[in-house]
Amino acid sequence: MKTALVTGANKGIGHEVARQLMAKGFHVFVGARNRGAGRVAADAIAKNGGKPTFLEIDVADNASVTAAAREFSKIADHLDFLVNNAGIVVDGDSVVLEISDELLRKTLETNTLGALRVTRAFALLLAKSKKPRVINVSSGGGQLTGGADRCAPGYCISKTALNGVTSQLAAALPKFAVNSVCPGWVQTDMGGKNATRSVGQGADTIVWLATDAPQKLTGKFLRDRKEIPW
Ligand SMILES: NC(=O)c1ccc[n+]([C@@H]2O[C@H](COP(=O)([O-])OP(=O)(O)OC[C@H]3O[C@@H](n4cnc5c(N)ncnc54)[C@H](OP(=O)(O)O)[C@@H]3O)[C@@H](O)[C@H]2O)c1
Repeated sequence: MKTALVTGANKGIGHEVARQLMAKGFHVFVGARNRGAGRVAADAIAKNGGKPTFLEIDVADNASVTAAAREFSKIADHLDFLVNNAGIVVDGDSVVLEISDELLRKTLETNTLGALRVTRAFALLLAKSKKPRVINVSSGGGQLTGGADRCAPGYCISKTALNGVTSQLAAALPKFAVNSVCPGWVQTDMGGKNATRSVGQGADTIVWLATDAPQKLTGKFLRDRKEIPW
C-alpha cells in the first residue's frame, strides 16, 4: 500500500490533503504537533473509511521529528509521499526593517528548516519507495519574480528560502521528485474567510503531484498543476 505523511494535517490545507489521499487509497499518516488535535483530525478522516494513523510531529523540534520517524518505521517500512505542509505566519503588516531576529528565526525554524529537517529524517524511508515524492507547501509570497508586495516579509523570506530547499533537494536526490507548490489564497485559519479558494482547491495540485504527475517533474514551483517562475 502507498504511504503518505502530511505535516500540520490537523486542520486547513494539510487536513484536506490527508483526507483526499486517504480517499485515493493511501495509508495516510496524519502529522500534528498537538496530540489531541491530531487524534481528532485522524478520527474525522477515518469517518470516510480507511484507517489513517496519527503521528505526533513538531517540525520545529529535532527530537520530535526524529521520534516521529522512529514511530513511523514501527508501522510502515517505506514512505512514498511526504507533504511538508506545516507553516506559520508570525508577522502581519510588519515592515522588513522592523521585524525582529526572533520573529524571523521562529518563522524560518518552522517554514524552512522544518521541511528540510523532516525530509532528512524520512529520507531513508522515502528511498525505499519506487517513486519517492516530496512536496513543500510554499507560497506565491516567496516568489522573487515580480518583486515583493511588502506583506508579511518574514513569512515571505521563509518561503523564498523554502523554495531554495526544494531546488537543493531535487538536485541532491535524483531518484526523488521534489517540488514546491503555491496553493493560492485559501480559506483557512491562516488565509482567512475572505480568501478566494476552498481547501479542496488549495489541496488540488498537492494531491495531483502525489498521484498523477510524472516522476520526472522535479525541482519546480507549481500552482494549478502548472510550473510558475521562482
Ligand atoms: N491559506 C493560504 O492562503 C496559504 C497560501 C499560501 C501558502 N499557504 C501554506 O499552506 C500551508 C498550510 O497553511 P494553512 O492555510 O492550512 O494554515 P493553517 O490552517 O494555519 O494550518 C497550519 C498547520 O500547520 C501546523 N503547524 C504549525 N507549526 C507547526 C509545527 N512546528 N509543527 C507541526 N505542525 C505545525 C498547524 O498546527 P497547529 O494547529 O498545532 O497550530 C496547522 O496544522 C502552510 O505552509 C502555509 O504557509 C497557505
